[in-house]
Amino acid sequence: MQTKTKKSPYFYATKVLGKRMYYHIITFGCQMNEHDSEKIAGLLSGEGYRATDDLPQADIIILNTCSVRDKAEQKVFSLLGRMKPLKEQNPALILAVCGCVAQGMKGKIRQRAPYVDLVFGTQNIENLPLLLQEVRAKHRPRIEIIEGRISPTDRHNLVRQSNFKAWVTIMEGCNNFCTYCVVPYVRGRERSRSNREIATEVRELADQGIQEITLLGQNVNSYGSDLAGEVSFSGLLALLNNIPGIERIRFVTSHPKDFNSGLIYALRDLDKVCEQIHLPFQAGSNNILSAMNRRYTREEYLEKVQLLRETVPGVEISTDVIVAFPGETEEDFTQTLDVLKQVCFESIFSFIYSDRPLSQSKIKAPRLPYQTSLARFERLWQLQNQITSEINQTLIGKKMEVLVEEFSKTDPGLLTGRTRTNRLVHFAGDKSLIGRFADVEITEGGKHSLRGQLVF
Ligand code: SAH
Ligand code: SF4
Ligand code: F3S
Repeated sequence: MQTKTKKSPYFYATKVLGKRMYYHIITFGCQMNEHDSEKIAGLLSGEGYRATDDLPQADIIILNTCSVRDKAEQKVFSLLGRMKPLKEQNPALILAVCGCVAQGMKGKIRQRAPYVDLVFGTQNIENLPLLLQEVRAKHRPRIEIIEGRISPTDRHNLVRQSNFKAWVTIMEGCNNFCTYCVVPYVRGRERSRSNREIATEVRELADQGIQEITLLGQNVNSYGSDLAGEVSFSGLLALLNNIPGIERIRFVTSHPKDFNSGLIYALRDLDKVCEQIHLPFQAGSNNILSAMNRRYTREEYLEKVQLLRETVPGVEISTDVIVAFPGETEEDFTQTLDVLKQVCFESIFSFIYSDRPLSQSKIKAPRLPYQTSLARFERLWQLQNQITSEINQTLIGKKMEVLVEEFSKTDPGLLTGRTRTNRLVHFAGDKSLIGRFADVEITEGGKHSLRGQLVF
């Protein structure tokens, strides 16, 4: 009879430790997850691994997952299914699942995909090297999920995706418990990093040549409420605005209930803070807002947006909308369309309501038929497409400063840059402009992006 060690695929893994090891990370979900993947890449590089895009070459494949909607979660399992043959071809391959699905499902992941070797949560990423060693040394799978108030940890030694723009975590977790949302269950309660720690990181980034930072948090407006004697979010912005080398400061996401005049004035007065804000309203009717536990009314939202538009010239506003929340009537939905018409958002992200097992118990009303949901979703899009096209037409002839990011994904002959208002502009130009600021004049306004030409 063979011994357990000989039978175990992990035996082969220990044999290959002398050779160069490769990792591949696949990321789903929001910027917070993208940024966590930079941290995972940093930890793996510290262990001597190198990145590869060639999956059969990888010694470890990590899926950093999102569970915000059912579809996102299903994608993870269908991808895992497609990874199974790789595992059969290379038994030493370590297949790991982390992120929000891992945090929420824990051991259930291996019930559905028993060939997964490692499952870890959103709050113990820095244990990854240790967990990997254990998987290899003990020749058996490992599941580790930590729950609790773990502070956002050290964000140094990351493998960042860009060398001119960077994400900076200022807080993690959420205390809001909107009834549809899984995030508080998979990201824990709000924890803020101290402003000194954040400023140190931003100074280091500036020294490395980073020009644009995006501050990350599930609810940046309540930054600091868990810290004694610290500054508020607008105070933090003022502090970071003074750091030489940083040219643009962005942030996501703001919750309308905590969005206040202090932040509006920060947007107006701090030269590096870009005049763009993502302010999800989710639904236009007070009945639905209340069933969602959003803790603001339609009127309060509209008032804040009006003050914002009056105070900050040229500000652009984007939003999230959920269509077909349980119990949404035709009248409720019309009120959502009405908010779109009143505010004229420059862009929106819209989603059909999706039941989430961890949070749905608080939703009592009946679910809407799929056909109704889809029809409303399409009506919403038709209206927004019209609004976006009208706004984009008004931009033709305007001169805008862009930070040039890369060659366009849809037309590799063109460069893509981002305006201060977070608009994508495609224009002809030389590769040497990537990572630099340029002025472009807008020549065409499409539905999702703009075209322009360089102005010298
Ligand atoms: N922290 C952010 C939102 C994070 S989730 C905020 O409060 O704005 C991103 C978006 O996904 C949400 O704004 C919401 O529009 C959508 N969303 C979240 N849960 C959903 C669900 N169960 N069904 C459909 N959309 C959902
Ligand atoms: Fe989810 Fe609401 Fe928290 Fe946003 S504020 S993460 S939608 S619970
Ligand atoms: Fe998804 Fe988790 Fe972000 S659920 S949206 S990856 S916080």
